[in-house]
Amino acid sequence: MSETTTEKKKVIFSAIQPSGTITLGNYLGALRNWVSLQDEYNCIYAVADLHAITVRQEPKAFRQNILEAYALLLACGIDPEKSPFFIQSHVHTHAELAWILNCYTQFGELSRMTQFKDKSAKHADNVNAGLFTYPSLMAADILLYQADMVPVGVDQKQHLELTRNIAERFNGIYGSTFKIPEPYIAEVGSKVMSLQEPTKKMSKSDENVNAWVAVLDKPDVIMKKFKRAVTDSEAVVRVGEGKDGINNLIGIMSTVTGKTADEIAVEFEGKGYGDFKVAVAEAVIEVLRPIQERFSDYIANKDYLVEQYHKGAEFALRLSQRTLTKAMKKIGYLVG
Ligand code: TYM
Repeated sequence: MSETTTEKKKVIFSAIQPSGTITLGNYLGALRNWVSLQDEYNCIYAVADLHAITVRQEPKAFRQNILEAYALLLACGIDPEKSPFFIQSHVHTHAELAWILNCYTQFGELSRMTQFKDKSAKHADNVNAGLFTYPSLMAADILLYQADMVPVGVDQKQHLELTRNIAERFNGIYGSTFKIPEPYIAEVGSKVMSLQEPTKKMSKSDENVNAWVAVLDKPDVIMKKFKRAVTDSEAVVRVGEGKDGINNLIGIMSTVTGKTADEIAVEFEGKGYGDFKVAVAEAVIEVLRPIQERFSDYIANKDYLVEQYHKGAEFALRLSQRTLTKAMKKIGYLVG
């Protein structure tokens, strides 16, 4: 992508953590939209590996997970010729701006983040400062590229609001420095729920493997997980109160097929949940099949991956350095 086009179209930025298991929730809530936005916008995407060490990582597996996340996103349809795509730790401006933004973020604001509360309860033996200040790093990721929009699932909305507050605060003190970004949350798929406890979001950190579907799960595994999905006793395929499990399955079906919830209800009238679960699993398997095939090709071609992530990092550094320098000058650092 040339830098002149960067100035014309609106800028999109988003990132994903390389956690080893990229789920159907990640795909339907975020990645699918990353792919479809590529023509209309100047998109910049990253694998957020700096964020990932807020929980302990085993070095060998971590290295592999970063590479696999990169390959999987290409397999999902991220085109690095259109959308610069890099690995966060390769671009040093992120950690630098994160430190600066930490000094413009209040303790009270970070304490209110629900993800911090959830994760610190889950990892009570490792409530590190990085887990606490994680949203300032996310704000740095976004603000460095002067992003107009950030495609994310519902669970990241609060972090986006904090990003806007930090940017407004900084701009209020020093004059216009950062673009104020908007969240881009799709109407369908932005909150895929657990298949086992459908009042909770589908999360790769769930210990019950039947709660989530991974993008790379084999077809028979996907089928088994959907067959085991928790439903209700009404046995009618329709959206309704107290039908969290079925509402979730209808949401997934609607996102992968493009059909509305009403069309799905009509299609499955008089049929039991067993048939419906199989149909949802089959639709998901078909959407994931080409991604899984492309993933095998990409992961076998490490030279290509290295070439692409180097190119992405070079572009990202050039662009982000401008914003970092601008912010540092405003603060009063001796720049240049
Ligand atoms: P992460 O890695 O947890 O998730 C990546 C994306 O997937 C979305 N998502 C879901 N969407 C719908 N249903 C679900 N069950 C579900 N689970 C996850 C997330 O909302 C996210 O969009 N902090 C971020 C990564 C990040 C980032 C950024 C995002 C780092 N820097 C800058 C945007 C901009 C995270 O942990 O996402």
